[in-house]
Amino acid sequence: MTNVYTRTITAASLAENSSQSVDIDGTSVLLCRSGGEYFAVKNQCTHQDAPLLGGRVRNRMVSCPLHGMRYELATGKPFGQLSHVPLATYPVRIVDGFIEIAVAT
Ligand code: FES
Repeated sequence: MTNVYTRTITAASLAENSSQSVDIDGTSVLLCRSGGEYFAVKNQCTHQDAPLLGGRVRNRMVSCPLHGMRYELATGKPFGQLSHVPLATYPVRIVDGFIEIAVAT
């Protein structure tokens, strides 16, 4: 199966340890930059579905702003007692200075 990538924002517009949400065909995706790398994860905590936008991004992790669950950005692996369900992650690539992500629809 081949991934179909969608172009989003410019890589330069996403500062280190920050995030931004984009909508891809009805799916809210959180773009993050941390450790000099770019990541895309579902913008929805697996605990009580809160948006992760606005959560702290550090050390390739994002924290949920509501109750503090943390997720590893590369794998979606959860850290914390509130949820053991991983976060969905999406393939990312940088093309012509833009962040492109592949979200299965
Ligand atoms: S909704 Fe994210 S930790 Fe509770």
